[in-house]
Amino acid sequence: MQRFLVPWEIEECQVHATEVLVLGSGIAGLYTALKACEHFEVTVLTKKGIPEGNTIHAQGGIAAALDEEDSPALHYEDTLYAGAGLCEAESVRALVEDGPKRVEELILMGARFDRKDGKLALTKEAAHSRRRILHANGDATGEEIERTLVAQALKAKGIILKEQRFLLDLLQNSKGEVIGALNLNGQTQELEIYLAEAVVLATGGLGQLYCYTTNPAVATGDGMAAAYRAGAPLMDMEFVQFHPTALAISGAPRFLISEAVRGEGAYLLNSRGKRFMENIPGKELAPRDVVARAIWRELTQGKVYLDFRPIGKDRVAKRFPMIYQTCKEYGIDVTQELLPVAPAAHYMMGGVRTDERGRTSLTNLYACGECACNGVHGANRLASNSLLDGLVFGGRIVEEIVNRAKTQGYIKPQTKDISMEPDTYSENAESEVEGVPGDSRARFKGLVARQELQELMWEYVGIIREDEGLKKALKLIEEWDRFFVPMRKPEDLELKNLLTVGKCIAQAALARKESRGGHYRLDYPHTKDEGLEHSIQVRGAKNVGTVPVSGVN
Ligand code: SIN
Repeated sequence: MQRFLVPWEIEECQVHATEVLVLGSGIAGLYTALKACEHFEVTVLTKKGIPEGNTIHAQGGIAAALDEEDSPALHYEDTLYAGAGLCEAESVRALVEDGPKRVEELILMGARFDRKDGKLALTKEAAHSRRRILHANGDATGEEIERTLVAQALKAKGIILKEQRFLLDLLQNSKGEVIGALNLNGQTQELEIYLAEAVVLATGGLGQLYCYTTNPAVATGDGMAAAYRAGAPLMDMEFVQFHPTALAISGAPRFLISEAVRGEGAYLLNSRGKRFMENIPGKELAPRDVVARAIWRELTQGKVYLDFRPIGKDRVAKRFPMIYQTCKEYGIDVTQELLPVAPAAHYMMGGVRTDERGRTSLTNLYACGECACNGVHGANRLASNSLLDGLVFGGRIVEEIVNRAKTQGYIKPQTKDISMEPDTYSENAESEVEGVPGDSRARFKGLVARQELQELMWEYVGIIREDEGLKKALKLIEEWDRFFVPMRKPEDLELKNLLTVGKCIAQAALARKESRGGHYRLDYPHTKDEGLEHSIQVRGAKNVGTVPVSGVN
């Protein structure tokens, strides 16, 4: 595999320097930047416009044990239960214990969460034993959080924010230490080097790998792919979360229908009008993977519907204004009619491996939010823990950088330190490929190719997997990846990154011969009782490796 996404030379680049470089502008990136700018000069680079990531689309809310009847210990238990044996205890402890103070800080920054009788209004979602989900403007929680963080970041003195910067690659010195990033400026089409003492990846997820997703167009796994090319291990890539309920009307995008709708009482009905979750533990609020698979099975017999009527007509429009309005635009009044729903790729549990302080295995490289994997979500993320994850681990990374600056100090990198390790661009990628018909290669271009990849992933590396389909998908992805040489344009660069992360998911899914959380194998339906392991993938390694789960205590 090539070290860099596209061929490039240092001499052609504009060079910038900063102390802390944050890549991404969702909750994880902006919160990290806001905390870091109290100590350092910070630059934030983002692929498109500042709020275009996943954060702004979050509906249900942000979980935190803030109620007097709740506690971090209960939140810890619920997170472990949903995580199906693969959670890292230290990371979960950090999440639930730091969580409340980070959310309170967000409130102090200006985030206006919904209140009832002066107190925070808390809702319930799947697998939560308590009402602990804060929400804003009913179902527009992400929008409120992003609004708050963007406003703070734009007025913060120590933050430079730049849009339209596509992360091409992480830059390293000859010791493999990360010293910055190479970006494509979408306004000038020029390459830019950003040298930095510490680099924080907060580039989000990869939902665009699937033809049905709740994720926006920017979620193409760029940060995970760049970290992988640089040699950082990826962990638990087989664990993709499929949200059970997205809008399923032909011609409409798979718009998220928040789990909070079921939390407030809505039922799932099959095409015969039967409430098919009724006899399953947890009913409509069973863990997400359980509900998604149950819906998937029902969809083989006919449509599946969400019945909002148990919530009460007046309450629906008030509690879920965005969902109510969006469905109305697609011709359905959810207060009167059943809403057709189906699962959609929603969240990546895997990602760049980090410890509970956000450190990756590469010196100076940190990762938080959806692109990172510290084991906090295990095999299946508990609803509304993702926004909290961004805050908690963003905050911890800054504490870590501050600490390290005090104890060891950081060295200012220079362009002469950049290692241009020998690459393979001179080789003719197409001529290397055996067994791929020329017309198939010619066809694999641009948006058509992306769609083909998305459909392949959905069919064979989706909610239900098995050996033959995974092998078929992997073979095709490997072939496409080998001959597809991206040009310096976003659609090509994204496609190459999608091929990289898609390949990792298929490989890890093939290697995990059991079913657990978001990973379900028809040919291995059972969950192993012993030897709990994370999958590990490192560039250049032939096989998927494993590391033991640290243990729950
Ligand atoms: C939802 O509102 O159902 C999504 C929340 C989440 O993904 O945690």
